[in-house]
Amino acid sequence: MAVVRSLRQVDADHAGVDIAFRADVRAGLSQTPKAIPARWFYDATGSALFEDITALPEYYPTRSETDLLIRHAADLAAAIGPGRAVVELGSGSSAKTPLLLAAIAPAAYVPVDISGDFLRDSARALAARFAGLPVYPVEADFTQRVELPGEIADLPKLGFFPGSTIGNMVARTAVDLLRHWRGALGDGSLLLIGIDRIKDVGVLERAYDDPAGVTAAFNLNLLERINRELGGDIPVENFTHRAVWDDVHARIEMHLVAACAMDFTIDGHRYHMAAGETIHSENSHKYGARDANLLLRAGGWTPVATWDDTDPAFALILAAATAFRSAP
Ligand code: AVI
Repeated sequence: MAVVRSLRQVDADHAGVDIAFRADVRAGLSQTPKAIPARWFYDATGSALFEDITALPEYYPTRSETDLLIRHAADLAAAIGPGRAVVELGSGSSAKTPLLLAAIAPAAYVPVDISGDFLRDSARALAARFAGLPVYPVEADFTQRVELPGEIADLPKLGFFPGSTIGNMVARTAVDLLRHWRGALGDGSLLLIGIDRIKDVGVLERAYDDPAGVTAAFNLNLLERINRELGGDIPVENFTHRAVWDDVHARIEMHLVAACAMDFTIDGHRYHMAAGETIHSENSHKYGARDANLLLRAGGWTPVATWDDTDPAFALILAAATAFRSAP
């Protein structure tokens, strides 16, 4: 029987609200232009809506990545080898994880996610499916310093960072994160990362503005979450969802657009928005083959294999922790 034990590393205030959420909303709505980090999408409602997004016909990344994991399972097993502790960053529902775990015969599985209920449910389901595999869920924000369970200290590690979540960070933050996990996973570790490719603008924009309105609901839930958790009175019905490709930054930008001028309060603080003003809520960067390799190298990882033969294009890249070198 697999061991399931949960480690919680989130700082909550007396009302049970994540302290960093309160601080990010206050700072983000006080600046020009207004912006709130995308990681706050994922309360229980937001996580469920994201799962719905992954099933949309227009949202290709999940399908393409799953396809790669299935078709290249034997190559992945050969390149990674058995006996590693798999540390999954932002595991969510862990939908793709069984494909990887079944392919590589790991020694342990450590899902790291900020959404506690989701994390525990999926960890339980995985532990039941892979009898004998120790599962150590860690409830934490993987963009911050995370303490890994002592039980995996001596095992070789595989970081698993699927879904192109790295694309939600600007390059500077992405490199910081990669460097941090290079240190945390240690010498001899590997990283299997999903990275979305640059492609036709129509395909990209439809993936982030679906006709069924699921992505719009996902975006607007951020405002509802602020109202729920921070006692806000934002008139959510006065906002619309916008998703556009920005070619200069090679990214889809999501915004919450104010349909009219309005005032609202959050946590006793007053905010004003002009008609047409936006709250920038997400970036989703896309990478060409050379850009992706450069990003990984800058983050302390040396790409060793790439699988990207899907349509729409998406890449799974295996990288090895770069050894310290004192010369070029
Ligand atoms: C989680 N992340 C990789 C998704 C993406 O594609 O950037 C989040 C998302 N936002 C809108 N749709 C999906």
